[in-house]
Amino acid sequence: MTSKQKHLLSMQELSVERITEILTTAESFKEVSGREIKKVPALRGKTVVNLFYEPSTRTRTSFELAAKRLSADVVNIAPGSSSATKGESLIDTARNIEAMKTDILVVRHSMAGAPALLARRLSCSVINAGDGSHEHPTQALLDLYTIKEKKGRIDGLTVVIAGDLLHSRVARSNLYGLVAMGAKVRLAGPGTMLPPLMGTWIDAAPGQVERFTDLDKAIDGADVIMMLRLQTERQSGSFFPSVKEYARLYGLNGERVAKANPDVLIMHPGPINRGVEIAPEVADGLSSVILEQVTNGVAIRMAVLYLLSGGAST
Ligand code: CP
Repeated sequence: MTSKQKHLLSMQELSVERITEILTTAESFKEVSGREIKKVPALRGKTVVNLFYEPSTRTRTSFELAAKRLSADVVNIAPGSSSATKGESLIDTARNIEAMKTDILVVRHSMAGAPALLARRLSCSVINAGDGSHEHPTQALLDLYTIKEKKGRIDGLTVVIAGDLLHSRVARSNLYGLVAMGAKVRLAGPGTMLPPLMGTWIDAAPGQVERFTDLDKAIDGADVIMMLRLQTERQSGSFFPSVKEYARLYGLNGERVAKANPDVLIMHPGPINRGVEIAPEVADGLSSVILEQVTNGVAIRMAVLYLLSGGAST
């Protein structure tokens, strides 16, 4: 997404300058959500359509609120109650939505590459709101924003991303974003869930990414711990003996957090599996910024919608 690009499809395609521009623009939009009248006219007359083929609480609501707070017209389409149930293809559905003069199409789909496919076939802007195990760029952007807001910087921090890395689009997008912004990333999880490679781009950043199978070693000295949901809906095999065993070895509990840096940030993109990858006392504890991530998601999505609509950076 350079200033000339009209889509947001992945973190991998974003330059450091563009990531910085989005984070800076989000800072000024965050203030809007704190006002009594949470609205600015920046996208008046624009139409945003949310097309979510997978369930979502945070991302879909956040895009809707972001577009409404920018004064855009917003339509949400749930394929379960659309003509997709009559066999209409993804491309035909999207082309019909575009024919109604949509400006921005926000797409979530179980198929990696679905938003990129639509971007090639449509004239309107397309935003990837999560495509299979590939990427979830706005989640990574809101995570970067939250880290920067809390720690004052990203460069030089040690960030652990732990859990079901193999199936996680959040992990992939965060890995690209964090490395680009100068963080050191520790990937932690069962050997069966540690992807051997997460893209040649990462191999071009030697010394910035390490892999761990021992969560305790990974979190030693970490500034941020980002836990991932166990994504049973994407697992086609048996990756660990039992959920109980997984929680024992890879769940973030109070005992583990007590051994981490006192100012460590605990993050999770949600939805959380309490008692599996994260204990309730950690999810709700003083180090947790999980709900602040959700709050920041609205500001990030306002910034992305605004910039893709041709808005000047702030
Ligand atoms: N983090 C995230 O993508 O959550 P939802 O699935 O609820 O949108």
